[in-house]
Amino acid sequence: MHHDSVLSKAITTNNSNGHQGLSEALNSAKCLEPPVKVTPVSASKGIVHRLRLAQHNLLSVWREEDYSIRTSRMSLMKQDYVLCNSPDTVRRVFLEQHDNYDRKSPQMRRALEPLLDDGLFVSDGDLWRQRRRQCAPSLTNGLLPGFCTTMTASAEETAKRWAQHPSDAPIDMLTEMAHLTARIIGRTIFGDDTTDEEAEQVVAGFTEYQRHSEHLDMANMLGLPFLSLLGNPLRRARTRYSAKQVHEIIDRIIDRHTYRSGQGQHSLIESFMTSMKDGGDNSCPMGRKAVRNEAIVMFMAGHETTANALAWCWYLLDYDPHAMARLQHELDEVLDGRTPCYEDVANLPYTMAVFEEAMRLYPPVPMLSRQARGDDKVRNRDVRQGTVLLVSPWLLHRHRKLWEAPDHFVPERFLPESPRPDKFAYLPFSVGPRVCLGKRFGLYEGVLCLATLAQHFTPKLVSGHQVSIECRLTLRPQGGLPMMLQPR
Ligand code: HEM
Repeated sequence: MHHDSVLSKAITTNNSNGHQGLSEALNSAKCLEPPVKVTPVSASKGIVHRLRLAQHNLLSVWREEDYSIRTSRMSLMKQDYVLCNSPDTVRRVFLEQHDNYDRKSPQMRRALEPLLDDGLFVSDGDLWRQRRRQCAPSLTNGLLPGFCTTMTASAEETAKRWAQHPSDAPIDMLTEMAHLTARIIGRTIFGDDTTDEEAEQVVAGFTEYQRHSEHLDMANMLGLPFLSLLGNPLRRARTRYSAKQVHEIIDRIIDRHTYRSGQGQHSLIESFMTSMKDGGDNSCPMGRKAVRNEAIVMFMAGHETTANALAWCWYLLDYDPHAMARLQHELDEVLDGRTPCYEDVANLPYTMAVFEEAMRLYPPVPMLSRQARGDDKVRNRDVRQGTVLLVSPWLLHRHRKLWEAPDHFVPERFLPESPRPDKFAYLPFSVGPRVCLGKRFGLYEGVLCLATLAQHFTPKLVSGHQVSIECRLTLRPQGGLPMMLQPR
């Protein structure tokens, strides 16, 4: 396969800076115990046992052989599933036959529609195409450098707070990163004049929604029936109520922007409102409700994902002090103590490689699902209309036939001088026409937050704490990540 052949071409010598090349880094990594992983379930266990395990952690449903297969099929309660676990099958579903597989699974739509309404994350067909066209420019045009200033300013605030933190008390790194990325995405969407109170209300509304929603769980998203709590009217009412609260706050902010519109705030909401006025597509310009729905999509999609990726980076940098030393060396060389900016990201390849390797080992979105509109054949599997297709970045990123030392932390895989992994085997942001709209935003945010904070601190995991993996809608360290802040 592509990646097998590119791996064999791996660089074997130290590079000009005296740092390890890919082959050497792989060899050294193999001498270490890999960072935390999920033990595959024994092949002899039946489906009932595996599903019971999956109630606690969906990833424990996989057997060792699932990490080296290309496709598989299962059927649960009359619902057919096909797992696409090779670059060619992912390419077929996400790219070549996209029109047949542009629909999210029915469970995903049911779980998110009360909150996102017809937002582009859950829509499909013509509506999705139109919204994607209207929203994409706001994230891909020249606004990114300005958004990067928001990222570093917010990370600097975190660094200042950390500097005041008593040196003998741990912080929870997962919560810290969640607050940081919520502040960044809040200011990016709504602009700097959004009050802290409003931002907190949005975050609280999201948290409440997630807490009450009976479907917002990976197992339910996939329609696995054993966890179904359908038919709990109290929970359903609470879910609707928390969605309504989020809608009200955001409507209020949009109204304020409407009155002041044109005053030059570079926020996503201003940008969406411009596409509402100018349209670019006069047949159906984005209406007020559409602007609100897409603002919620951006908040939901862009907050927890980046926070989890950053938390895993800190865990891995503590696990591998050589990687932390190399990252801090790069920061000292390039930044010499100053706050990083948009232009610096291109000169921080190792920092970027750490972020990308962290998302390989711990993909923030570990499972993607689509529903077939019509019949198809994927490799040797017949797909009938209505079948749910599963693509698991978790499995693909640790696939035994696609990666050397698949469970080990080797950031050198992602350095510019190493062969780039196949984009249908490494897909933390998905791939194809429905690829994450915030991909560049998320990558820049990850690098700039790491660069700002790792210049001043070397966070150390609280001794004796056992890290484990929790897989709900996203993948995160279970129960948080207690760390001591060691100033540099
Ligand atoms: C490290 C950070 C991030 C990761 C790993 C990530 C990952 C993903 C993935 C895997 C999808 C596809 C989901 C699916 O097909 O079911 C997605 C979609 C999306 N993401 Fe991200 N995301 C990140 C950050 C962001 C940010 C910062 C934003 C916004 C500023 C964002 C906005 C979106 C949107 C709008 C979609 C839906 C695209 C569509 O359906 O056309 N994401 N993201």
